[in-house]
Amino acid sequence: MTIQETFQQLQKPSRKRKLAFCIILACVIFIIILAVVISTATKHEKPSNGGFSEDFSITWAENHTRISDHGKRLELILDKKSGSGFKSKEKFLFGSIKMDIKLVPADSAGTVTAYYLSSETPNHDELDFEFLGNTSGQPYILQTNVFANGTGQREQRINLWFDPTTDYHTYGVLWNRRQIVFLVDDLPIRVFTNNENMGMAFPNQQPMNIFSSIWFNGDSWATQGGRVKTDWTHAPFIATYQNYNLDACVAKDAYAPCAMPVANKWWDQSEYQALSAAQQDKVRWVEENYMVYNYCSDMKRNPTVPFECIRNSGGFLGLGSLH
Ligand SMILES: *[C@@H]1O[C@H](CO)[C@@H](O)[C@H](O)[C@H]1NC(C)=O
Ligand SMILES: *[C@@H]1O[C@H](CO)[C@@H](O)[C@H](O)[C@H]1NC(C)=O
Ligand SMILES: *[C@@H]1O[C@H](CO)[C@@H](O)[C@H](O)[C@H]1NC(C)=O
Repeated sequence: MTIQETFQQLQKPSRKRKLAFCIILACVIFIIILAVVISTATKHEKPSNGGFSEDFSITWAENHTRISDHGKRLELILDKKSGSGFKSKEKFLFGSIKMDIKLVPADSAGTVTAYYLSSETPNHDELDFEFLGNTSGQPYILQTNVFANGTGQREQRINLWFDPTTDYHTYGVLWNRRQIVFLVDDLPIRVFTNNENMGMAFPNQQPMNIFSSIWFNGDSWATQGGRVKTDWTHAPFIATYQNYNLDACVAKDAYAPCAMPVANKWWDQSEYQALSAAQQDKVRWVEENYMVYNYCSDMKRNPTVPFECIRNSGGFLGLGSLH
């Protein structure tokens, strides 16, 4: 073997090593790039929860709102001149949205405090909580509704098992691909299940903003059939908000990473795909004891029981004690 041959012999494994090194390096670079791309795509997964001024904008009559306690408390004020309202800066697609609200105390007849999610699109999706005020000592009504692809008319109304004006209570929505659950202090009061396989639209493609507003309504659907008029000597009427918790996917566009099932969010886990038996019992308890109106059993409006009323949560929901 010449020196040269020996040298070449020695070089060979070194070239292989170099090649292997290059492949490993390329892999590492590829993985880093992939990680950066994925983290960028999911970067805005969560909102800041940093205070009302940070996460919400006043959309109606800033002069009828008040933010205090370092941005942690917000008041919406209604008087004869104006109501007021706010809206989340971000849109969301799936997750958990919670807000602590203390409603207008004492005489709140004719006031409506609305707290809802809406896509604000032509065929809009919307999830509503609407609190209908009442004269002093008379119960508030909490009306919920679900719009999917522009179709709503799914009102349910309940009285609450507490006075919603003396303390803050948490009103929340759990929203995933399989179901939408309305919660009061973490107790499920209503569920809307995905029945797309039966041709019914389900809110799962349109990101929604969070809204709230306080306004005056003297029409028949508000206080005691419109018989009771708002007593403006009791104005201003004030609803107070605090401790919101937005654990939801921030959507920059309709098919943002939020819409990808591979994203593996907690709300996509199996325990959130359907109500447990205990949760179903809670919904039934609300329905049997506190429900005062249900579109499902409004034979005038719906001569045939709407499909989702039978299907929701295994068939017992939506009919309750109201026939
Ligand atoms: C407050 O804002 C409302 C709505 O923007 C406006 O109509 C009203 O004149 C304002 N009132 C005062 C006192 O500035
Ligand atoms: C939504 O409604 C539009 C028209 O109202 C209809 O063309 C479309 O198919 C609907 N989409 C779903 C997902 O139901
Ligand atoms: C107000 O109180 C009356 C009497 O208790 C009740 O019938 C009514 O449903 C309550 N709520 C509204 C919004 O009218």
